[in-house]
Amino acid sequence: LADRSLVVVSNREPYVHDYVDGEPTVERPTGGLVSALDGVVAETGGTWVAWGSGDADFDPQVAPDGRVEMPPEPVEADEEGEDDDRPGYTLSRLDLPRRLVENYYYGYSNQVLWPICHLEADPVTVDPAFADAYREANRRFAERAVEADPDVVWFQDYHLALAPQYVREARPDARLVQFWHVPWPTAEFFEICPQATELLRGLLGNDAVGFHLERYAANFRDCVARFVPEATVTDAGAIRYDGRTVETHASPIGVDGDRVARNAASDAAEHYWERVVARYDLREERSVVLGVDRLDYTKGIVERLDALSHLLETNPELAGEFTYVQKGTRTRERIPAYRRYYDEVRARIADLDRAYGTEDWTPAIYIEEDIDDRELAGLYRHADVAVVSSRRDGMNLVAKEFAAAQGRPAPTAGLAPEANGAPARDRVPGALVLSRFVGAAESLCPAALSVNPYDVGGFASMIREALEMDANERRERASAMRASVEATDIDAWLAAQKRVLAGGERVVADD
Ligand code: UDP
Ligand code: G6P
Repeated sequence: LADRSLVVVSNREPYVHDYVDGEPTVERPTGGLVSALDGVVAETGGTWVAWGSGDADFDPQVAPDGRVEMPPEPVEADEEGEDDDRPGYTLSRLDLPRRLVENYYYGYSNQVLWPICHLEADPVTVDPAFADAYREANRRFAERAVEADPDVVWFQDYHLALAPQYVREARPDARLVQFWHVPWPTAEFFEICPQATELLRGLLGNDAVGFHLERYAANFRDCVARFVPEATVTDAGAIRYDGRTVETHASPIGVDGDRVARNAASDAAEHYWERVVARYDLREERSVVLGVDRLDYTKGIVERLDALSHLLETNPELAGEFTYVQKGTRTRERIPAYRRYYDEVRARIADLDRAYGTEDWTPAIYIEEDIDDRELAGLYRHADVAVVSSRRDGMNLVAKEFAAAQGRPAPTAGLAPEANGAPARDRVPGALVLSRFVGAAESLCPAALSVNPYDVGGFASMIREALEMDANERRERASAMRASVEATDIDAWLAAQKRVLAGGERVVADD
């Protein structure tokens, strides 16, 4: 992609400027898309167009015209073999009016498309103002992309299903590619969407559309076959539409395993863990069961707390044997379903503590403070069991980060094991209990213990099995998980994306 102008377009920006005590501060928003893409775009270079959602995003002191030059992250001394000449990128922020944000982001994107893609019918709310706002916002993203005079445009996720068609109309020569970071539902379910055909036509403005799993790509093609009569789906998985061919492909997104492992072995990780232990009086002899989630109803946190409650009810001898640590981040709070979910999670944790807690044991604790990657890795590293129990999840990076944080199975020659993120010799890795309804289950199971989060009894027994797993089995499973995280890591994903972005016959210089 070296000599071609690349424009990346996503709703969420990688850095948000807000005012704290009148002073601009910068924060990285929580979510898989930003976690995965920030390092990737620092490598590809180009312009990243995103909604400027922070109060200080357009403050001329921090970002003239909402544009910020983002240098690549400094290369750490122990990161051997890392490129030194990564280009960094320009963040170009879109200033969307408040009303548009209400109806496009909180409305159509997150009350229509998000629940539909996650096969959740109940939270779907179709307000007549939502679809128009979605069209309008997509036009604005498309216009900003076109202004940057791109050779290649890379759209991200479900907020931008119409933008490709708009860019195609203005720039028929540009190469347009989209990655859909959430599941694609079955045709029966997608039919709930009143704009089903319009959205599909919008996406067919692309030259290629990517998904985490082949299953999602197949669902997408089924939807095209069913709802776009003028399109033809070929046996090879391509779509003929409007005189062009639109490719579909699957490539599972991953994490930078070495980086997570190094973070987990860092002093910052250790210090944070020590603070948590002191603050909540966590006793060494008690196991730690960990959950790390945006507080989204798709994450199955209530199902998890129900399973924990069932576990304690049916296994009274487990009282005092473990502490459940929920690291949570509030999300999309202007939407009533999210506010209710937050309240419900907090209430369930309080119920658990009331029902089973004793003077010297609090069964569940909740941590909401903002912590950085290293501190989070400290939680991963010290957990005996992590539970990812999404009702549905496109991939789920938390599961992969947890697996990576347990350290390398075997130290690489030449590096001290700890510097390489390897566990200390006597450290026993944590076990992972993973919902079968997340994309990551395809690669992490059976090394991770697979559960159906709707089955409270089965879920509770699986948590028990994880708690009781012996050291050898933990090591074997952790080693298999780490190997699979490495096989489908963020570099593999980026290499696949670069091939798609460059187009079949075009050669990518640094691939
Ligand atoms: N994350 C975090 N703090 C939290 C919850 C999540 O930093 O309290 C990060 C987590 O490390 C991961 C991302 O947010 O990188 C969540 O990605 P995932 O794919 O698991 O789910 P998403 O939130 O994107 O639906
Ligand atoms: C998921 C979506 C992303 C989104 C993230 C956080 O990972 O696929 O597009 O950025 O959740 O949600 P938010 O609404 O805060 O951007």
